[in-house]
Amino acid sequence: MPPALVASAQASPNIALVKYWGNRDDDLRLPSNGSLSMTLGGLHTVARVAFDPAATVDTLVIAGQVAPPAARQRVAQQLDLVRAAAGHDLRARIDSSSNFPSGAGIASSASAFAAITLAATAACGLALDAAALSRLARRGSGSACRSVFGGFVEWIAGDGDESSYAIPLAPGEHWPLIDLVAVVSQAAKSTGSTEGHRLAASSPLQTARVADTPRRLSACRQALLERDFARLAEVVELDSLMMHAVMMTSSPALVYWQPSTLTVLHAVAEWRRQGHEVCATVDAGPNVHCLCAPGQAAVVKAKLQDLPGVDLVFECPPGEAARLLPN
Ligand code: DP6
Repeated sequence: MPPALVASAQASPNIALVKYWGNRDDDLRLPSNGSLSMTLGGLHTVARVAFDPAATVDTLVIAGQVAPPAARQRVAQQLDLVRAAAGHDLRARIDSSSNFPSGAGIASSASAFAAITLAATAACGLALDAAALSRLARRGSGSACRSVFGGFVEWIAGDGDESSYAIPLAPGEHWPLIDLVAVVSQAAKSTGSTEGHRLAASSPLQTARVADTPRRLSACRQALLERDFARLAEVVELDSLMMHAVMMTSSPALVYWQPSTLTVLHAVAEWRRQGHEVCATVDAGPNVHCLCAPGQAAVVKAKLQDLPGVDLVFECPPGEAARLLPN
C-alpha cells in the first residue's frame, strides 16, 4: 500500500440517448444491450474515500448524513472489488455529496459510483486506465461506467466482465446540445433501477427491444457524428418509448410516468412540429429530459417553465470526464 490511503474524485451524471434496461447477468451488471449517453455538465458528485487501518467497518456518509444500511452495503460491495484488486482488507470512510437533489430525475448512482470507484482505486495506489476504471464502475451501477468519460459515450455491452465497458465517442464540443431536465416530481420512486432491470425480462416486448438495439445505436451514433438533429430526435424518442413500453408491460408493471410527464412529452412534440429543435427522453422516473440543439435552449426553457406541472428546469451542457481532485 502507498502511504496516501485517501483520495477524492468528481464525476457527473449522464443521460442515456439509447438506454440500458435489463441485464444478462445481474451480479456482474452485464447489460442486455449496449447504450449511449451524454455526460451532464454543471452537475457532479464529489466522493472522498479514506481507508483507515483502525476501522472495522465501511462508513458511508452522504451529504453529511450517515447513509442507510442498504446504500452502505452497496458501496461496501464495490469497495470489496477495489480491495481485492489492491490486495488488502482495510475498511474505509466514504464521504459523497452531489450538487443536485436526489429525486430530480437525474441518476445520482452513475456519478456517485464513478466518483467513488475512481477515488477508491486512487487511494489504494491502483492506476487503472479509463477502460478498466469503466469496467469497475459498472459493477457499482451500470450507468456509472459511462460517467467515467465526458461528452458522448457508448457502453459496449460485451459478452463478459472483461469486454463490457464504455468508450468515448465524441467530446462535448463536437455538438454542444443542452439537456433541459423538466422536473415534474421530486418524490422518491417506489421501484429503483436495480429492481427494474430484474423485471425487464418479464416483459414480452424486451426481446424485440434488445434485438433492435444495434440498429438504434447505429442511427444514434450517425446522427451524433453528423450533427443531424431530426435523426437524433427520432431515435432518442423511439428508444425512450420502447424502454417505457417494456417497463409498463413487465410483471409487475412499472409505470414511472405522471400526468405531467405526458404534458411535457406532448408539448415537446408540438414545439418540434413548430420548428424548434428539441426532443424528449425519460429515464426510470417521471421527469423529462428535453434535449435541445445549440441555440434552442433559452426559448425551450421559457416554454417548459410555463407548462403546468413543471416545478423546475435544470440546464445541462455536455460534461467532463470523471477526475481526481487534490486532497
Ligand atoms: C433508465 O445504471 O441506474 O437510466 O446498474 O442498477 O445502478 P443500476 O442501474 P442504472 O440504470 C439506468 C437505467 C436508465 C437508462 C440508462 O441510464 O441507460
